[in-house]
Amino acid sequence: MTTHAATLITGLAELVSNDPELGPGPLGLMRDAALVVQDGTIAWVGPAGAAPPADERVDVGGRAVLPGFVDSHAHLVFAGERSAEFEARMSGVPYDGGGIASTVRATRDAGDELLRSQLQRVVAEMRAQGTTTVEVKSGYGLTVADEARALRLAREVTVETTFLGAHVVPPEYAGRSDEYVALVTGPMLAACAPHARWIDVFCEPASPHAFDGPASRAVLEAGRAAGLGLRVHGNQLGPGPGAQLAVELGAASVDHCTFLSDADVDALASGQTVATLLPGVEFSTRQPYPDARRLLDAGVTVALATDCNPGTCFSSSMPLCVALAVREMGMTPVEAVLAATRGGAAALRRDDIGHLGVGARAEMAVLDAPSYRYLAYRPGVPLARTLEVA
Ligand code: NIG
Ligand code: FE
Repeated sequence: MTTHAATLITGLAELVSNDPELGPGPLGLMRDAALVVQDGTIAWVGPAGAAPPADERVDVGGRAVLPGFVDSHAHLVFAGERSAEFEARMSGVPYDGGGIASTVRATRDAGDELLRSQLQRVVAEMRAQGTTTVEVKSGYGLTVADEARALRLAREVTVETTFLGAHVVPPEYAGRSDEYVALVTGPMLAACAPHARWIDVFCEPASPHAFDGPASRAVLEAGRAAGLGLRVHGNQLGPGPGAQLAVELGAASVDHCTFLSDADVDALASGQTVATLLPGVEFSTRQPYPDARRLLDAGVTVALATDCNPGTCFSSSMPLCVALAVREMGMTPVEAVLAATRGGAAALRRDDIGHLGVGARAEMAVLDAPSYRYLAYRPGVPLARTLEVA
């Protein structure tokens, strides 16, 4: 392995290490800290006064540094837009997943170059706001060729790719959802699995377009047999089997969690599945926010993600999610920042990101502010960006 120059990072007003061995609280906060980065990993972290010599030096000028945001849920391979649907919702039309079909139409009609440029534009937007890892789902192709294409494109920007052929039943299969599930679990899975790390399903009996418990189970079990990790869209529009199914099958994460019963919370607390909350969705659909406090108090690991997509949340902003989680969901600033970094990493079953201890990947965000608190304290202000170290 080639060894590159070591870079010493100084001038930190605050370091959020997310490593409780390095400093107080779950954020492992350090003041007057310095970091040494070498070969893309954190080689040393400690008090600035004790920093070892390095080849290069970067002074962040009195800013806070934190692990880059881990956005563990996004749908970025699509064409078209649905601002009129958003406007209708703001006049009282509820979201039921029916609008997904219009994005499917536009995506099928689009060439690779259009999809790629849209995807790259949103990923660049994310990086400009401090996100260093993003998960990208398929789910707007819904044919064998279009789903495989979406995942090939997603692989160009991330290793965290998710096959979501079971997003909705496409119009050509209306009334034949069993046949569509057979396609998803058969030829579509075979074509998509080589390009995917994960499989996901929109498990939502409250939507006429999505999948019930038995169909969701069939999709997840087929994905697992094909070697994919499991993720679930669950309990977004109403109560349903998604959360408990996710725990039972050992899914890495169940996402949305807006409508949870006590039994769902108990199941999450006793299992290994992360509850990923997507507050931009409630903001953009006028649904009630999920009760993060109840999950945290029960001991559930919580992640925050954007769900960036043209329907329920066309925002790529993890700082917005942090601010909403604090203001609307009962999370403290510490809990929200942890959920947007280490929580997202847990939802992707990654321990090399989401913290800045020695050996972690040097994927960092820097704030134009002295403290992580400013993410919720100064909402809507572009404070965060990724910290690039050569
Ligand atoms: O996570 N709920 C299902 N899928 C997306 C929305 C997709 C869309 O409306 O285009 C979500 O909210
Ligand atoms: Fe989603």
